[in-house]
Amino acid sequence: MKNKQSLGAFPRTRMRRNRGAEWTRRLVAEHRLAVDDLIWPVFVIEGEDRCEPIPTMPGVDRITIDRLSGAVAEAVDLGIPAVAVFPYTDPALKTPDAREAVNPDNLVCRAIARVKESHPGLGVICDVALDPFNSDGHDGLLRDGVVVNDETLDVLCQQALVQAGAGCDVIAPSDMMDGRVGAIRDALDGAGFAHVLIMSYAAKYASAFYEPFRDAVGSKAALKGDKKTYQMDPANTDEALREVALDIDEGADMVMVKPGLPYLDVVRRVKDAFGVPTFVYNVSGEFAMLKAAAGAGCLDYDRALMECLLAFKRAGADGILTYAALEAARLLKGSE
Ligand code: PBG
Repeated sequence: MKNKQSLGAFPRTRMRRNRGAEWTRRLVAEHRLAVDDLIWPVFVIEGEDRCEPIPTMPGVDRITIDRLSGAVAEAVDLGIPAVAVFPYTDPALKTPDAREAVNPDNLVCRAIARVKESHPGLGVICDVALDPFNSDGHDGLLRDGVVVNDETLDVLCQQALVQAGAGCDVIAPSDMMDGRVGAIRDALDGAGFAHVLIMSYAAKYASAFYEPFRDAVGSKAALKGDKKTYQMDPANTDEALREVALDIDEGADMVMVKPGLPYLDVVRRVKDAFGVPTFVYNVSGEFAMLKAAAGAGCLDYDRALMECLLAFKRAGADGILTYAALEAARLLKGSE
């Protein structure tokens, strides 16, 4: 901003003039949400021709693989660039060594393959972390009650390789183990997957806002304790910059801040400090909060949703993972 004098003063300056009509508000708008900014997370389950509502996420279902092509077809029609696929793993397949995570024929690998087969031009993103597969519900392996870092890295690398083998375009490590981005990058490069991207959950906080997601993937009942020894303390932002710096050094193509709304300051700091493609995860608890408020008649869902998504853009995000991606894309289309 220039010095105060040059900014004008009332009555010659009237801020309301620029806001006086729709056309001028459109001209002076500084930020815009576009369908190109949206990533749609979807949940898959075993079975045929089935969808299972997730009670804590109104309007979101777990769907069987045969329904996946139909579901993503709508995303493609709306112009959404990418989906993120999450599996609900049969509890009988969960083990302390999370071995189902590295099964090349597991649910999420089959889901990835199906999406790429039916919609090759749609980007497919997949988490690397052990929580959907681990009988302890943690993102890493547990030894004597402690989540162990370096042993977990080996499994994460194998997991990334089976997902890349299934056709996954973007590996998204969400586990918060130290050194995982570099380890996964080397593993991918060594196996002929140099073209596969890494979007790291770089600044991922130990948050209360993940609960509905843990219902959705069925890891809530399994989880013993909390994730504070690997996910970040909500009190810290300098630490977020160190996390992001390390992940970029280790080869991340894109970084993510998560959750979204309570961490807009972190999104802004990351974008300003590094200027790399920066994503934000509008997580399940944020989604549930808005749905609950709208359901209780406290606010207008569509308007509140678009305001929140625009806030991510204002904070500097290049893209947003949101369960409301289809709703937002439809609203954007309707307003064209
Ligand atoms: C798994 C993972 C989580 C989310 C994305 N990947 C949950 C967690 O870390 O416990 C949360 C997403 C959401 O709440 O929408 N590591």
